[in-house]
Amino acid sequence: MTTWDYTLLAATYSLRPPYAERAVERIVETCGVSRPRVADIGAGTGHLTLDLLRHGCSVDAVEPNDAMRSIGQERTSGRAAVRWYRGTAERSGLPTGAHDLVTFGSSFNTTDTGPALAEAARMLTGRGWMACVWNHRRLDDPLQASIEALIRSRVPEYSYGSRRADQSPAIEASGLFSPATKIEESFHHEMPTADWTAAWRSHATLQRQAGPLFDSVVADIEALVRERVGDTVRVPYVTVGWLAPRRRTD
Ligand SMILES: C[S@@+](CC[C@H](N)C(=O)[O-])C[C@H]1O[C@@H](n2cnc3c(N)ncnc32)[C@H](O)[C@@H]1O
Repeated sequence: MTTWDYTLLAATYSLRPPYAERAVERIVETCGVSRPRVADIGAGTGHLTLDLLRHGCSVDAVEPNDAMRSIGQERTSGRAAVRWYRGTAERSGLPTGAHDLVTFGSSFNTTDTGPALAEAARMLTGRGWMACVWNHRRLDDPLQASIEALIRSRVPEYSYGSRRADQSPAIEASGLFSPATKIEESFHHEMPTADWTAAWRSHATLQRQAGPLFDSVVADIEALVRERVGDTVRVPYVTVGWLAPRRRTD
């Protein structure tokens, strides 16, 4: 299994929360065109792809992992405005200058960012934009703080790595995009507790760092959550992202 192989996580990935409606709206509106043509990179099981389709975009969804892509294809089947491709951020296989927007939904951190930004700039029209977004659980919430403490007691070196880092230096360093605007939109996601605990099984960052302890850490999280909440859990999230226009060459 390679560092970012999502095969074992695919089955529970769709249980993860959607991105904040307002964050997706801002990204789509910023493009300034009525039906943006979007390349959604690392599209996975189609979370951001579905949001983009709902906002009137036509989407080329690029995903290297077969298990993730086939769930994404199934979730978007029957939608004429989406096409799926096997490819990567660094080598998408998509044409040059044909997209108004290139998006990375929780996938920018899985890429080699320099080559991924060069590929994004190549795919964009002269007035195109790139956006990368993640959903972060609010760790100041009491339940989330307890889960965090539990994880750190079992995996002391646990770190979110570049998932929670400021992406603007990498975007600026590419020299291909103008300075990025940060997006932050909070929301609550309410769902059956069983689904939310099952979604922990698709937590790639925890899986990579917990290694052989992953199953038992997730089982402890499940036990803790069962003890604290009823059948439904309300989880506070913030969608955090960066949005940058391609640097004009004319
Ligand atoms: C955390 S998932 C995000 C999926 C989806 N975009 C979403 O918003 O839920 C990250 C995805 O990036 C994919 N990925 C890993 N390495 C990649 C790369 N080099 N280029 C593009 N995608 C990659 C993984 O297979 C996985 O499906």
